Amino acid sequence: MAGDLRKLRVRRISYEAESINSYELVSPDGGDLAPFTAGSHIDMHLQNGMIRSYSLVNDQSERHRYVIAVNRDASGRGGSCFVHNAIRAGDLIDVSAPRNNFALHEEAECSVLIAGGIGITPLMSMIRRLEALERPWKLSYAARTRRAAAFLGDLDAIRPDVHRNLHLDFDDERAGRTFDLATIVANAPAHAHLYCCGPVPMLEAFETATAGRPAGHAHVEYFQAKRAPALEGGFEVRLARSNRTIVVEPGKSILDAALDAGISANYSCAEGVCGTCETRVIDGIPDHRDLFLSSEEQAANKTIMICCSGSKSGTLVLDL
Ligand code: FES
Repeated sequence: MAGDLRKLRVRRISYEAESINSYELVSPDGGDLAPFTAGSHIDMHLQNGMIRSYSLVNDQSERHRYVIAVNRDASGRGGSCFVHNAIRAGDLIDVSAPRNNFALHEEAECSVLIAGGIGITPLMSMIRRLEALERPWKLSYAARTRRAAAFLGDLDAIRPDVHRNLHLDFDDERAGRTFDLATIVANAPAHAHLYCCGPVPMLEAFETATAGRPAGHAHVEYFQAKRAPALEGGFEVRLARSNRTIVVEPGKSILDAALDAGISANYSCAEGVCGTCETRVIDGIPDHRDLFLSSEEQAANKTIMICCSGSKSGTLVLDL
């Protein structure tokens, strides 16, 4: 697990929308927190042992607090329900330093942001940063209903004419039309940087719609895996640093097998999206299943996400 944990105090919990609360985290001694950039997330090490990543929604110029928002998802893996049901103002929670896998290209001539539901969270910190830099941006924000859309008030408060930057789209108000992501992307200026955060089908539609865009101009943040992890097993992993060899049995990930063998390994999401478990490959051919590495990085086979990826070769040699 991450070794950069710090205990932070839950100073305030606020209702933001139907099933969405925000959580303000501060240092117990009132000091500054580690700086972050727009698009960053933190890992919360919950009291029940779960580790969950949440994007920071506040302004990166703030050093005294981190603000996250959590959508209570009863069909999820249990982290969001725990946060809603068990965390109280005043609690102390182990929190990692911020990391950014979804960085803002501040020099872009235009930034086009597309959010689905709770996917608005990293885009809020981007909007705050773009406003501070006086850079042009547009937001298309889809949600089930107005009541389920967080931060509408914060968006309104940015400036009086902010509505020109906003395209709000609610399932129950569009009379049978679908959220037209392809047209939003098609209408974006040729050199715009585009960002999308939302449910997996939206991200997949975004990746399809942006396939013809210049390389490095389309950015996504996945919160959940879209591919099944490699749990077929049947290979061995030589751990060069630990000087050990472990067998990965069917039903286990490399991470599971390493932890079972008492090898310590960093991990967080355990779904191939956060990048925490990235491990250097010394030899062998990984079976990549993550959403963190680009397709070019996967093809290079220099690193592997051991929480979800497996091996195409009988033996994999890792720097672990
Ligand atoms: Fe998040 Fe492996 S732990 S990618």
